[in-house]
Amino acid sequence: MSTTIPITRPRRLRMSASLRRTVAETRLHPSQLVLPVFVVPGRGVRRPIESMPGHAQLSVDRVSVLAKEAEAAGVGGMMLFGVPETKDEVGSSAWDPSGPVPQALEAMADAAPGLVRWADVCLCEYTSHGHCGPLRGDVVDNDASLPLLARASVAYAEAGADIVAPSDMMDGRVAAIREALDAAGHTDTVICSYAVKYASGYYGPFRDAAGSAPTFGDRRSHQMDPANSREAIREVSLDLAEGADMVMVKPAGPYLDIVRAVAETVEVPIVAYQVSGEFAMIEAAAARGWIERERVMMEALTGIARAGAGIILSYFAIEAAHLIGEQG
Ligand code: PBG
Ligand code: ZN
Repeated sequence: MSTTIPITRPRRLRMSASLRRTVAETRLHPSQLVLPVFVVPGRGVRRPIESMPGHAQLSVDRVSVLAKEAEAAGVGGMMLFGVPETKDEVGSSAWDPSGPVPQALEAMADAAPGLVRWADVCLCEYTSHGHCGPLRGDVVDNDASLPLLARASVAYAEAGADIVAPSDMMDGRVAAIREALDAAGHTDTVICSYAVKYASGYYGPFRDAAGSAPTFGDRRSHQMDPANSREAIREVSLDLAEGADMVMVKPAGPYLDIVRAVAETVEVPIVAYQVSGEFAMIEAAAARGWIERERVMMEALTGIARAGAGIILSYFAIEAAHLIGEQG
């Protein structure tokens, strides 16, 4: 048998960093990254979150400082979550105009006008029982929660939110929110629906950060079963019919098949949320020296973009933006 010299050599295109950069199909840009932030009442407060190294609950003045840093790094926006002073059965502090989220939205406009202001809309941070809406028996009362979510959305729009992002997974909430926003004159406020949100164990660190763990039970009666994918398309179709401008898949890393399927099915921007547990796992393994931290961070984000997400929520947003800048 004669030795054959291969004519086709895929390796040719991988021989140098400059060639690899030239042929790369997926390029991250800082503007597609969005940083989630936890806002608390008070001034000068920075309360570190143990399970999320480098992250902390911040008072509004500290959010402004962080917003400047994010803007300088080229990050696209920040998503605000509120940790309120008081909680009740229905979560009424969610629509308090002097609550942490509306205050932080206003402060962001001055501190970092170039950032897109995203406000998460859910009631679990604001209810005494930690569920995503008022209860009937021991499950969330879907229809009773809709006007409350709408009220919170209007409060955030009044405070200057560019995008409201309902994360509650109640049926019909996008329509209720769209109708309330329009009635209040906020016809240009964008709705990014967490259309495909799984009942996931990866939210653990977030619930410490936001103080939103349910006091009993779980969220399986409204968040999606990890076993399902066809249902994801159904949720997306419904939310778009109700007026969603963008749709989100969450978590991101364990659900890349879903990101891809949604991206191939609909024409709106696709958002993926690299959640707290995905972040914490990378940090924890890196802290033990078991993986290369920055390399895995960028690989995880690239995978999410390659699957079809144009916008990525990530606790690595600022650092990744810096790394993207360095790598050109
Ligand atoms: C609240 C909400 C959660 C997350 C975003 N919005 C937690 C939950 O559903 O319990 C999780 C984000 C993360 O883990 O980083 N509905
Ligand atoms: Zn919730």
